[in-house]
Amino acid sequence: MAPKTLLAEVLSGQKVLDLPKVLKKALSPATIALLFAIGGEAERQRAPLYLVGGFVRDLLLQRPNLDLDLVIEGDAIQLGRTLQKRFGGRLTPHQSFGTAVWWLPEDKKKLLRNIGSASKQKSSPQFPEFIDLVSARQESYRRPGSLPDVKFADIRADQYRRDFTINALALCLTGLRAGQLLDPWDGLRDLRRGLLRVLHSKSFSDDPTRILRAVRFAARLKFKIEPSTLKQLKSSLRFMNQISGERIRRELELALEEEKRVQVLQQMQKLGVLKSIHAGLKWQSAMGALLRRLIPSSALQVWGLENVPFTDISFVLWFVQLPASVIAAITDRLRFTADMRGGAVAAARLRASEPSLKKLSTSRLVSALEREPLISVFALYLLNSNNKFGQKLQRYAKEWRHIRSHLDGNDLKNLGLKPGPDYRNILERLRSARLDGEVKNVAQEKALLKKVING
Ligand code: CTP
Repeated sequence: MAPKTLLAEVLSGQKVLDLPKVLKKALSPATIALLFAIGGEAERQRAPLYLVGGFVRDLLLQRPNLDLDLVIEGDAIQLGRTLQKRFGGRLTPHQSFGTAVWWLPEDKKKLLRNIGSASKQKSSPQFPEFIDLVSARQESYRRPGSLPDVKFADIRADQYRRDFTINALALCLTGLRAGQLLDPWDGLRDLRRGLLRVLHSKSFSDDPTRILRAVRFAARLKFKIEPSTLKQLKSSLRFMNQISGERIRRELELALEEEKRVQVLQQMQKLGVLKSIHAGLKWQSAMGALLRRLIPSSALQVWGLENVPFTDISFVLWFVQLPASVIAAITDRLRFTADMRGGAVAAARLRASEPSLKKLSTSRLVSALEREPLISVFALYLLNSNNKFGQKLQRYAKEWRHIRSHLDGNDLKNLGLKPGPDYRNILERLRSARLDGEVKNVAQEKALLKKVING
């Protein structure tokens, strides 16, 4: 008989988990030791500590997740300060939300010794980079989409402020309840049924970014949005205009980072989510095809774009088939940086001028492309990656944009030419001749230079 999954075990009644055994399946021994050390600190402060949110969900689904969210029924910032004092690292407190991020110290071997765990390993012990510490809190929203007012509360209230039942599970790490799974809203049942369900009817209007989260989780986990949740989702689309551009952009970035990004965006289109963000924002299957060409990402290296965030390139590819004026409006709404806005608009402009670009000589094509951001030219390339024009754009990236004339300013000076603005024009003329194959070596370039100088 196949071993029972953890979810099946807890659903069959085992609500108190053997923490070391269960955590061992998801975390390194060092991280487990750290969690118990943090639990020890919380116990000293007489404040129960819980693992919550996505980590608990994924623990039960047996999906990898190293984002540790800890909720303390007490003061998370105080807990963070104590941890920092004892073990080192850095603390980023957020006073108004009663939360803190504890960045673990660099020296991981020392950290392991400090938490009282002996290491037999030679290699550096595996820890997460940071841990989120949250004071259990209740949230209230003055109006749809506003940031919440926060007040300290117990774990149950903290679970109730969360988006979906499957994200509202808490696993107690301390005291007599250590190992207990708190599930007041039947998140376990929804995990088994594959359902995304809100905890109350105001969830989406309180925080309309949850609309985007719902679609993202549904695609990632292959879950369904439960019918009355779906109804509430649709009727809350009208609140999307209350959300800042930065917050929506961040959610769209998360959507683009998903493995199932195409399904997420398709579903956002189908449900009218994209339209609710901006009337001109849409998703078509051709956009998916283009986005798929980004992977494998070896093309990015050829273009020297490997350090550009994946989401930046994805946005440019997504928008390139929209009219430039619409892109300008969408990128304003989403508060893109000027560079990103420029890159997206330029890509659409290049696409619109594709027929005339195709007719240009190499040197003219190079000078037209050099006026545009490289990321935009790359988008034009991906649109043409199966044809001859695409091959030219690839040569532009690899070769042509790096070509200079053989001769340089010093050579002009040695010929007795007075330095001045003409230098640039002359060298540009020589470079064009080289790009177009008019000159093939230094001797021919010198001959051309003489001709240019003598008029
Ligand atoms: N949360 C919420 N509403 C939001 C954002 C977050 O209720 N708009 C809660 C959920 O309980 C969520 C937790 O905060 O599980 C942590 O947020 P986040 O890290 O964004 O979510 P994860 O569920 O961990 O998602 P992911 O797996 O994508 O990291």
